[in-house]
Amino acid sequence: MLIHLQKVCPPEQVDQLCKLIEGGAFADGGKTAGKVARVVKSNEQLETGARVDTVRSEVRKALMAHAGFVSFARPKTLSRILVSRYQPGMEYGPHIDDALMGGRRADLSFTLFLSDPDSYDGGELVMSGTDGETEIKLAAGDAVVYATSSIHLVAPVTRGERLAVVGWVRSLVRRADQREVLFDLDQVASRLFERDGKTRELDLVLKTKANLLRQWAED
Ligand code: NI
Repeated sequence: MLIHLQKVCPPEQVDQLCKLIEGGAFADGGKTAGKVARVVKSNEQLETGARVDTVRSEVRKALMAHAGFVSFARPKTLSRILVSRYQPGMEYGPHIDDALMGGRRADLSFTLFLSDPDSYDGGELVMSGTDGETEIKLAAGDAVVYATSSIHLVAPVTRGERLAVVGWVRSLVRRADQREVLFDLDQVASRLFERDGKTRELDLVLKTKANLLRQWAED
């Protein structure tokens, strides 16, 4: 299960982030990949320093303030955040992300798209699952969150430049099926509230969600 989050960053914030990133120095992205993933990784990453720190803190704040992200991911911490750039000829072939990032379990991965999708060709994030492949290329400011356990790739960029922020989430809830139940209950609760206001049924749904979260959360 993956989710498309709309407007994680508004256009003004996307512009600010892009300006900040474009003024920085980039290094070979292979440095942060494992031995096997490095073989297929050809991109660039913003070097450590004040610029990347600002981007990390802005993106962390924006995601944690996004109701859809919180409901879907149940984040405990965002363990690593990188700024990546793909120029023509660059790609990241099929790989899996590390299970541990800085000693913390990585349950979910996210990609926040920063470039206007019309400004570059290629660069789709492609998820391969048992049910086939899903290609994802989102509007600037939108993000996708998906299971870190999945095999995925970034297709070659053939024109323009693809800027994105990628990161990993340590969730309070380890199991994807349990996160899905909690996410669905949030949907039911908000629809019940919109339709009927505060009712006994809504209270029971919220009580059930809270009780499940107490059973499943590892805080
Ligand atoms: Ni990856």
